[in-house]
Amino acid sequence: MLPSLALTALALLPAVQGAQPIHHPAGIYRRCGPVSKYYNQKTSDWDDNNVGDWINNWWNDNSGLISNSSAGFAGAFGQWAMGNPDWSCRDDGSDSDCDLQLCDNRVLNDRGDDIRPTYYVLESVNRLHTYFTGIGEAFVTTALGAALSKDSWATTFYKDKDDKSVTALKEVLTLVTTIVGVGASFAGLGPAVAGAVAGAGNALTSGGIAAAVNTLPSHQDDTFEKSADLGGILGSIVVDSLKSFTTANNQLMSGQSYGDADIRSYLSGGAFLAYPGVDKNSVTDAMTNMLVGTSINQLYRTQKIFIMGGGACDDNQGIGSGPQEATVCRDGQAWYLYYWQENDVVSTTSHQWGWVASPPGADQLGQGAYGGVSVQDIINSSLDAYNVAGYNYDSDTAASRASDAISNSWASPGAHGASWEGIFTIPVCDVGGAVNSDYQGKEYILQPYGHDSRPVWCGAICSGDSQKTSDFINAANMGGFQSPKHLCNSDPGY
Ligand SMILES: *[C@@H]1O[C@H](CO)[C@@H](O)[C@H](O)[C@H]1NC(C)=O
Ligand SMILES: *[C@@H]1O[C@H](CO)[C@@H](O)[C@H](O)[C@H]1NC(C)=O
Repeated sequence: MLPSLALTALALLPAVQGAQPIHHPAGIYRRCGPVSKYYNQKTSDWDDNNVGDWINNWWNDNSGLISNSSAGFAGAFGQWAMGNPDWSCRDDGSDSDCDLQLCDNRVLNDRGDDIRPTYYVLESVNRLHTYFTGIGEAFVTTALGAALSKDSWATTFYKDKDDKSVTALKEVLTLVTTIVGVGASFAGLGPAVAGAVAGAGNALTSGGIAAAVNTLPSHQDDTFEKSADLGGILGSIVVDSLKSFTTANNQLMSGQSYGDADIRSYLSGGAFLAYPGVDKNSVTDAMTNMLVGTSINQLYRTQKIFIMGGGACDDNQGIGSGPQEATVCRDGQAWYLYYWQENDVVSTTSHQWGWVASPPGADQLGQGAYGGVSVQDIINSSLDAYNVAGYNYDSDTAASRASDAISNSWASPGAHGASWEGIFTIPVCDVGGAVNSDYQGKEYILQPYGHDSRPVWCGAICSGDSQKTSDFINAANMGGFQSPKHLCNSDPGY
């Protein structure tokens, strides 16, 4: 890359006997010809100089050159801009086929007014290629596989009586595709760059998702039970997706579309003009935490696990109080993560109705092997998903929200890791309205964890709405479950 070349040259200069140290890099750049004036480019230079229109015109005027070139768009542009028809930027094991030979390049430096946009396109294509090779390296890292290879997914995060083997991986896998897309966009844009890259966000996210979708079918029927090695399966999907990223790179470089977008969408807004490269460690960490979170969520969604809250952060409002060890206080409201544990021995005491407790495995979160996922992540992520799509936050919602967040610069999903909305979709019930209700036993709506803690829900406790309450009960796998209403004098309607 040019700036580091320049630095190397600067570092060498003082050693030359009698040479004048050159303090201004422009002094060196100038020796490369007129193109040197445009080095040190910033993202906004793309739009400020209408390079989007320029490349569209070039594309239309040179369709013959593109179709004649064996390397398609990149070959044609390389020939036109640098006199190098072998500039293919393909991923085929060669390190050099996307190199920029700009210094004193006669073809480029004779292009007059076109020098600036030509240079911006060359630089952007080169850096887009770096992005594709960089995510390849980030995703292939063994850290990802190691973090996901746990032999105890089902036994740690699953306790109910149902047959574990039916807990299919299908839903996890569908979401994994979105996460790969999110991870890829994160890799491409980085947390700091988002904001200047509206046009590229959508192409990147959907391109990443498309890459992963292709690798799904062979794993659809696997289950958590079969896979002590869930990590192996997730890891292989992620790694398999890389082959699709290679395909994406090669198609885009040749001038074809990938997904619904050709390379001009990826370059738009100068997304890659000053792109510094993939931060592989943070991409790997974020991806790992998102995949671990998604897997735990899938196991939790098959059990009686839910989030309840919406009252004041210090409780004391006459609707009981929740477990202080599993809470998030946000916007003045307290939210709690619950698991309704069924009694597993025959009993005629009130313990027959079970009790509320910490969800299976929650005590292992936030430390050691599961250090990147916390109870607070579960609550925040689920609340955000609930606020967007109620109990119906699915993989389509996840994909469109991630793409929207990046395109419209309101968040960098990858940077949030496991707390990103929809990584968890634990059903939420807002019981804040019960404070002013006359529900029977309302002082027991919220309960701390404990063997003697049995909440009592005699009414439309969720947002004061019968339909919502009923939807919540079903989403939390408590349809037909008598325990929360065993003390109610009349049918609470769910
Ligand atoms: C493309 O190739 C054909 C056949 O070799 C040639 O006649 C034509 O001039 C070429 N077009 C361009 C734009 O190079
Ligand atoms: C959860 O959300 C609250 C309120 O927005 C925030 O203060 C807290 O840092 C978040 N926790 C995590 C783990 O993201």
